[in-house]
Amino acid sequence: MFRATLDHLVCLCQGQLSLVSESAEKGSGPVVPAMATMPRASTHAEEDILYGTLQCVSCKERFPILEGVAIVVPDVRGYVLHHAKGISKSVPEERIPKAYRREYRAYLEELRTLEEEHIEEDLESERVNALYLMNHYMPASEMMTVAAASPLLKEWIERYWDQGPMELVAGWIPEKASVLELGCGVGGLYQRLCRRLNHRLPGISPVYLGMDSSFHSVLIARHLNFGGPFAGRLAHPADLLFGNSSRGFPEGISWKMRAGDGANTADFVVAEIDASPAKKESFDVSVSLNAIDMLEDPETLVYAQSHSVKPGGDVIQSGPYIWHERISKKLRGRLPKGIADSASAVEWLYSKNGLEITNRELHVPWLFFKHLRQIELYSVHAFIARKGA
Ligand SMILES: C[S@@+](CC[C@H](N)C(=O)[O-])C[C@H]1O[C@@H](n2cnc3c(N)ncnc32)[C@H](O)[C@@H]1O
Ligand SMILES: [Zn+2]
Repeated sequence: MFRATLDHLVCLCQGQLSLVSESAEKGSGPVVPAMATMPRASTHAEEDILYGTLQCVSCKERFPILEGVAIVVPDVRGYVLHHAKGISKSVPEERIPKAYRREYRAYLEELRTLEEEHIEEDLESERVNALYLMNHYMPASEMMTVAAASPLLKEWIERYWDQGPMELVAGWIPEKASVLELGCGVGGLYQRLCRRLNHRLPGISPVYLGMDSSFHSVLIARHLNFGGPFAGRLAHPADLLFGNSSRGFPEGISWKMRAGDGANTADFVVAEIDASPAKKESFDVSVSLNAIDMLEDPETLVYAQSHSVKPGGDVIQSGPYIWHERISKKLRGRLPKGIADSASAVEWLYSKNGLEITNRELHVPWLFFKHLRQIELYSVHAFIARKGA
């Protein structure tokens, strides 16, 4: 976590957060300096805090920073245990807070006995992150070589790959804007924003903060954008006969990705949308792409976005609306008569919270490459809405 990121974060009680040194963490692993300078590929080398603790000056709650990733969630212990799969890939066990290290070890033991699942919802798994990596970072030209064996997949990639929700909404964000992204995944929107901003406006320092509940995704986002630590291998599927991650990313891809970073003040942290630690009214724009249908209560996204933008600021939302029946049932029960589809329902949620829709696209193509005989096409709804001044 970069020190400057503290300017945009608060505790979940809204209290101020301060950084306490790792040596103050009783019972933590071997004491090393809490601060370490990473080779951030930017014009202003900034210290990246790899291990440390954030503490609330009001309620005294503590939030760890592990491998550069700040974890600012309501139940840190529960988070570390439930995300042990993603955390354990990069964080040495002795770095886990001692209070629950033993439970963490037991969780890991249990995970080792399970087979690598083939479920697409596990955001700490290598496979799901690999699919998002392709989606966020591989240009159509590279995808053409990945899908070379299938004329069918190549046709769709040529037609839709470079025109997804990220390309659309990057164009909606004003060049000088400060941006909060909720559910940022592996961080591809920031790539599109920082390139655009740096190339067009040298000298301007916009702020970008990405938040996601997946530790593994945030770690990858920090690695690819700022050169933060990442011990894993970046690979993706080709022919599943050879495994879920049979093909490595092209040589030098990390360097290419980081090349966009320049004068931006940016970071990625672990946080939950329904308990966002973003400071109140401190961003010009809040974006959330394709995350609303993963929330227990979709309206919490509307609150989080509205809370974080300044009066007169914009919120951007997109979704393929793949609701779980439990959630859509609850949502249906709250809708006024006459709302007949998901897009209208979500627009209604935003409007009733004082956000005025100013632009929308009803069907944005979003392609997901699964392996060289499977590609998924989503037809995504996206809109921008303004908060009253
Ligand atoms: C479908 S993915 C979309 C990722 C990216 N925005 C995109 O459009 O490619 C949804 C993302 O939201 C994150 N997410 C799901 N529930 C969340 C929550 N309650 N708080 C924060 N992030 C969440 C997931 O970890 C995942 O990265
Ligand atoms: Zn607090």
